[in-house]
Amino acid sequence: MAKAPELINVSNEAALRDAGEEHLWIHASAHRALADEAQGKRILVEGDGCIVKDIEGHEFIDGLSGLWLVNVGHGRKEIADAMARQATTLAYASSISSTSVPAIQLATLLAEITPGDLNTVFFCSGGSEAVESALKIARQYHYLKGEPKRLKVIGRRGSYHGATHAAMSVSGLRAGNEPHGSPFMYGTMHVGPPHCYRCEYNHTYPGCDVYCVHAIEQLIEHENPKSVAAVIAEPISASNGVVVPPQEYLPRLREICDRHGVLLITDEVINGFGRTGKMFASEHWDLVGDIMTMAKGLSSGYAPIGAAICRPHVMEAFEGPNRLSHLLTFGGHAVSCAAALANIEIIQREKLVDNSAIMGARLLKQLEELESHAIVGEVSGLGLLCGVELVKDKETKEKFKGDGEELKFMTQRLQDKGLLTRAGNVISLAPPLCINKEQVDRIVEIVDETLTEAEQEFDLG
Ligand SMILES: Cc1ncc(COP(=O)(O)O)c(C=O)c1O
Repeated sequence: MAKAPELINVSNEAALRDAGEEHLWIHASAHRALADEAQGKRILVEGDGCIVKDIEGHEFIDGLSGLWLVNVGHGRKEIADAMARQATTLAYASSISSTSVPAIQLATLLAEITPGDLNTVFFCSGGSEAVESALKIARQYHYLKGEPKRLKVIGRRGSYHGATHAAMSVSGLRAGNEPHGSPFMYGTMHVGPPHCYRCEYNHTYPGCDVYCVHAIEQLIEHENPKSVAAVIAEPISASNGVVVPPQEYLPRLREICDRHGVLLITDEVINGFGRTGKMFASEHWDLVGDIMTMAKGLSSGYAPIGAAICRPHVMEAFEGPNRLSHLLTFGGHAVSCAAALANIEIIQREKLVDNSAIMGARLLKQLEELESHAIVGEVSGLGLLCGVELVKDKETKEKFKGDGEELKFMTQRLQDKGLLTRAGNVISLAPPLCINKEQVDRIVEIVDETLTEAEQEFDLG
């Protein structure tokens, strides 16, 4: 019998890098990304609170909480213990014949802490599956209510809802997904986002009377309301800059959907679990989606889990024998549910939502001062979800080239100075919610220095 290959030891960085280059396909990266220094991929080995350490011993403030998800911070033994307890008691219960205690406990807790009367939880393994599930629920809802032609879904350009086919189709980043994504799901269409700094409609708030939300109603009417199943929107979009909508936008969107019998799917995959200074961003506007999606901060990344939670009027359609034909093996995984329960307990006990609001206000205020930089177009944010929008030219708002030297330089300098995030069109900043004042101030210092160095290096402004 062949001998099992020995695992490469953590002390052997070069061998790990070589093996990773050969065998690991890192998501959203070029093949052999580990070999390409310009891609700046670190091999992380440890984390504690807001700090992560790479294999070479460099320490960083985790400026993006991994990928907008390690809300309670790294190294939480309580979550690991809860997972171990559940795994050694019962790791898995099949949804064909059973469920588990933590799945029931977590669903009940989510019904309690989510906005309004959101009440019934469908579990899955992450954000894309949560969106995929919400879209299927919305379409089947209309079918069961006797409106089978309501199939279309409206999203917003610039939004991101996931990598699976339907989620990618409602995402508003189509051009980049063209080679593998098309043809996109039937009936998915898009309007411009409520991004006043770069208004697609060339309007100016408040004189525009929030035209961008009116555009959604126009599209619903143009398409025939009886053919539209849902509108999907993150309360605060974070994938292409941090887009905090004008105050009226979401309440009006709610009214428009109600007027036309269209379901509103609120995507809180990034926004949820304290990220914006409320438990859910919808609360800033007293908004209640008909279906709300969540993932990421639900377990702070300690275990893969996502969910779509529905209001009673949605669930009415599924009373009796009308089941949702949608089985995900890992949905409601007992260990993931145990991780999420321990995670939410920490968020509540340590008042991390309040800390997000307080530290977020401190971060945003200081970042706004960076608007004096020649290459900062706009700073935006709410809670610990902030973005520094970069421009080559303030007047024309010209963006830097995605693969240009300037952005590479800035990403490298941010990391060299000890801040792990990326400089795209936007420097996204979303550290763990347990961050303290000193760490917030250090983030701003690093960004400030990096901007100055980039301006000098490339003679900008
Ligand atoms: C708003 C939103 N929805 C859905 C997703 C997809 O989540 P996942 O990557 O867990 O599949 C993301 C991922 O970043 C997201 O930002």
